[in-house]
Amino acid sequence: MGTIDSVLKENRLFPPSDDFRVKANVSGMDGYNALCEKANSDYAGFWGELARELVSWKKPFTKVLNDSNAPFFKWFEDGEMNVSYNCLDRHLEARGNKVAIIFEADDGSVSRVTYRELYHRVCQFANGLKSLGVKKGDRVVIYMPHGVEAIIAMQASARIGAIHSVVFGGFSAGALRDRIQDAAAKVVITANETVRGGKTTPLKSITDEALGLGGCDSVEKVVVFQRTSAKPEHWSEERNIWWHKLVKDQADECEPEWVNAEDPLFILYTSGSTGKPKGVQHSSAGYFLGTQVTMKWVFDYKDSDVYWCTADVGWITGHSYIAYGPLGIGATQVVFEGVPTYPDASRFWQMIEKHEVTTFYTAPTAIRSLIKLGGDLPKQYDLSSLRLLGTVGEPINPEAWMWYHEVVGGGRCPIVDTWWQTETGANMIAPLPGAAATKPGSCTLPLPGIMADIVDESGAPVEAGKGGFLVISKPWPSMVRTIWGDPDRFKKTYFPEDYNGKLYLAGDSAHRDENGYIWIMGRIDDVLNVSGHRLGTMEIESALVANPLVAEAAVVGKPHDIKGESVVAYVVLKSSRPEGDDAKKIAKELREWVAHEIGKIAQPDEIRFGDNLPKTRSGKIMRRLLRDIAKGAEITADTSTLENPAILEQLRQSAI
Ligand code: PRX
Repeated sequence: MGTIDSVLKENRLFPPSDDFRVKANVSGMDGYNALCEKANSDYAGFWGELARELVSWKKPFTKVLNDSNAPFFKWFEDGEMNVSYNCLDRHLEARGNKVAIIFEADDGSVSRVTYRELYHRVCQFANGLKSLGVKKGDRVVIYMPHGVEAIIAMQASARIGAIHSVVFGGFSAGALRDRIQDAAAKVVITANETVRGGKTTPLKSITDEALGLGGCDSVEKVVVFQRTSAKPEHWSEERNIWWHKLVKDQADECEPEWVNAEDPLFILYTSGSTGKPKGVQHSSAGYFLGTQVTMKWVFDYKDSDVYWCTADVGWITGHSYIAYGPLGIGATQVVFEGVPTYPDASRFWQMIEKHEVTTFYTAPTAIRSLIKLGGDLPKQYDLSSLRLLGTVGEPINPEAWMWYHEVVGGGRCPIVDTWWQTETGANMIAPLPGAAATKPGSCTLPLPGIMADIVDESGAPVEAGKGGFLVISKPWPSMVRTIWGDPDRFKKTYFPEDYNGKLYLAGDSAHRDENGYIWIMGRIDDVLNVSGHRLGTMEIESALVANPLVAEAAVVGKPHDIKGESVVAYVVLKSSRPEGDDAKKIAKELREWVAHEIGKIAQPDEIRFGDNLPKTRSGKIMRRLLRDIAKGAEITADTSTLENPAILEQLRQSAI
């Protein structure tokens, strides 16, 4: 790992103000250290106490952690609860009339939903799902616009013990089909259209296309929410039912299905380095606890907060920090349907002013694009309501961090740079804002009870300043339980034999500095991080090779100012290597093909055609060389094992 030693030296420290520290839920490093000590001295007692404090139980658990069948850990295994009850019913008495969601649509119109209204709407929809025959343990795929109804659909599934799998509305029919098929979903919930940035996408038609691709025989019904006035192209009286008709005569009370702590709450598909996407399976109680602890510690939740996480419910951030975390703790949150740049790049700042947002959680890619499109724009708005800022999804570069801190946060708001993953369920490494002094670009310290470490190939901790593999050495409540239908892959991917199956391997490289602060250096597998979203190179390669023109393809990432990484594809056609206009035409066709096969986010920014790809004599593609060529960097690696060295020059000259 010597070659990935960090070159970034960042010594600026930003301690919380006295005022912030004094009022914080965890106050000062003493507060943080006390929690860490408690976790270190009595791990089960520590989590057990939090689970009793932050989760409402129907039947209390008697056992905290069962590790007898590692790595298939069980938390609170004899307890019973319901996540939707925890997000809705338990707030009715104290804050039934409190606004739960301030929804701002793409066109700027605003509506508000109180906890009581949300409760009734979730109950009605839950009864609707039951009337379609959905039962505990059935899978429900949610392919919807980001908005109140998507949250209702998730909460309603949770309420009746069904397992939801949300598919991001930007995914294509093929990607949707794969997920429906893998989860064997009984019901799909979609909308006629989604509206983002003034443009519509026909989700219902894409769903029809997905079901038409075959392999989705499990699907009995498709519920369609009417988001716009557009009429769906096709309508099957047997399979389709409008959302508004389904809920029309349903009772607005619905007794929650009391589930076991370990019953799955949802499956969320995420990219891996090989093979098809992994269905990351989360539990009910442990997952929910993770969201609650971090709302309290990392987001320093206060009853008076107006909280806004800009993610889409299609990603894990939208699950943990929109659909479950804020509702579980009883927060008022902004939910935004649109994009940060529409109608212009001041949208976020305008909305922070309008809704008096106190806590703002977004992604580095959004920050970088907003700096580029109007770095001075925030100054035109009153952002004085803000007290805490957060980032997630990828490392944030110190310049973007400083801009966020000064221009958006007015120099007074701590920034919580939260490292976590689809698989971890909740924030893992992040500053507690009233305790840790932050450093631009570092996610700082593990949360109390999270045993993060950085190790070498043998599993031994590396010394400060040296890069290594980020691992978690003890199970934690909100961790992934398995890969849906593939427990072997779960074991091999996350608890590899290299570490005797004892360490959770995150797939990231990282180092610690002399203060023990953690710096994430990037992925160690063939996974790209484009605009904070994980894309498996393998999936994009398979999509390309599925095109009739393509013989072979290799995909790598290239650093990108705004997106973090962009997709570069090396392609060998079945016919001869195209040049000039011909090459441009085929490149355009292949980009559209990838958008259609996976979704626009996976489209290659750059395509390079070659007569073949650089391979070792044993036939392995030398990706490191392809990364260097994509970056325009000098190739310093030893190319003597290369079968066909002349290919490098050809690929170097062929960017389109
Ligand atoms: O590489 C890390 C990066 O995003 C990966 C997880 O991606 P995903 O499962 O899609 O979840 C994203 C939202 C939680 C990680 O393995 N990552 C996430 N947060 C950070 C980060 N890298 C650096 N700093 C972060 N704060």
